[in-house]
Amino acid sequence: MAAVELQGVDLALGQGAARVHILKGVSLLIERGETVGLVGPSGSGKSTLLMTIAGLERPDSGTVRALDQDLTRLDEDGLARFRGRNIGVVFQSFHLIPTMTALENVATPLELAGAPDAFERARAELAAVGLADRASHRPAELSGGEQQRVALARALVARPEILVADEPTGNLDEATGKQIADLLFAKSAERGATLVIVTHDPSLAARCGRTIRLRSGRIETTTEAAA
Ligand SMILES: Nc1ncnc2c1ncn2[C@@H]1O[C@H](COP(=O)(O)OP(=O)(O)OP(=O)(O)O)[C@@H](O)[C@H]1O
Ligand SMILES: [Mg+2]
Repeated sequence: MAAVELQGVDLALGQGAARVHILKGVSLLIERGETVGLVGPSGSGKSTLLMTIAGLERPDSGTVRALDQDLTRLDEDGLARFRGRNIGVVFQSFHLIPTMTALENVATPLELAGAPDAFERARAELAAVGLADRASHRPAELSGGEQQRVALARALVARPEILVADEPTGNLDEATGKQIADLLFAKSAERGATLVIVTHDPSLAARCGRTIRLRSGRIETTTEAAA
């Protein structure tokens, strides 16, 4: 079973004159446990492709399969449930809920899924990213690197098979970005998760087993890392 399989994915977004044909016949196969870097110029469709892989955008045509489930056949509720169980997402700008503490942010996906031990597991996940002592801080009371650790804990807490990250180090200084990348790779390896990272950082892309380069909504090249 592949982690992710896209076939002939086309996607346009926006209305009327602002409509943009973003993904043009994208097909790709990502095996379970792979680490894949998605690179390419600004505007080439990396974020849109990542969101399509994560089931957060629906293609206009083509199919998106994740863990053998055809995402294009699920209704919104089914898709939300599937994502909650199987796909963790990390964004460049963290996307934490500002009124919630770090612990509440991490516990929320589990609570929504009805897990009885949401807070216990969230506390353990925060500890796993080195933030046990920041559980009751709100995002504004945390540094950028700490906020991204909380976001990472939130993405990991349901033990998803697939982890996607859109420029996860893009808002951080070099040293902090490296720490976040180290955590991201360590956690996904430890759990056997599949990791797909969008990045403009060549050193981050070089850490991935494979790099897919997009240009104008099409896959231009795929490069395997040197063994
Ligand atoms: N909701 C939308 N409506 C219309 N056009 C959109 C929408 N979202 C993205 N686009 C356009 O689609 C193209 C691809 O956007 P996308 O965000 O996927 O690029 P990207 O490769 O992630 O770029 P960057 O490296 O700057 O983040 C861009 O030209 C963008 O303007
Ligand atoms: Mg982007």
